[in-house]
Amino acid sequence: MKIKEQIISLITAMDERQAIGFQNELPWQLPDDQAYFEKTVRQHVTIMGRKSADSPDLLYSRFHNIILTRQNRLTLNFPGNYSLAGNLQEALEQAGKGEVFIAGGAQVYREALPLAHRLYITQVHHVFDNADAFFPLFQKEHWELYAEDFHPKDEAHAYSFTIKKLKRRSV
Ligand SMILES: NC(=O)c1ccc[n+]([C@@H]2O[C@H](COP(=O)([O-])OP(=O)(O)OC[C@H]3O[C@@H](n4cnc5c(N)ncnc54)[C@H](OP(=O)(O)O)[C@@H]3O)[C@@H](O)[C@H]2O)c1
Repeated sequence: MKIKEQIISLITAMDERQAIGFQNELPWQLPDDQAYFEKTVRQHVTIMGRKSADSPDLLYSRFHNIILTRQNRLTLNFPGNYSLAGNLQEALEQAGKGEVFIAGGAQVYREALPLAHRLYITQVHHVFDNADAFFPLFQKEHWELYAEDFHPKDEAHAYSFTIKKLKRRSV
């Protein structure tokens, strides 16, 4: 039997300046992107930071979520299944084999990016003036775009966006 490896995927939505949040909330409401997130992670484990887990705009897996915190005791009002981990390595070990989704926020993306095999990026086609959390800079030439899907602006979506999937180029 073939042993499945662990695949580390970062899933994020960002504006044209790589902004991902403001005052612990998302700068936008894009229901079709939210539905895409939920469908993508449905049968997988997510790993997220404690601040994202506390956000009113929390997106999470209906399967299992691992929340990173350095606090020994943490009371969370989290709507889904979750466990806690004290560092990223421990969280990845808990997640086990198969594809695991790193779901933010900025601190966690920054630490996990060097380990990532895939990036699932929703590029929101707008620049938000109010932003205080950003996706880390990454070298585009190290990543190969293998899927792309444009969603236009409409009554339910104030901004158009493109869902992109990238995989790390082998060196
Ligand atoms: N656009 C998107 O796709 C997206 C996705 C997710 C979140 N966001 C946004 O991102 C922002 C939040 O990002 P953030 O950087 O402020 O916070 P964050 O990364 O969500 O959480 C930071 C917290 O996670 C814990 N943590 C982080 N790294 C850790 C490690 N290596 N080991 C143990 N614990 C660790 C710490 O919790 P303790 O303080 O409890 O120790 C830390 O304070 C919000 O605005 C949110 O809306 C956007």
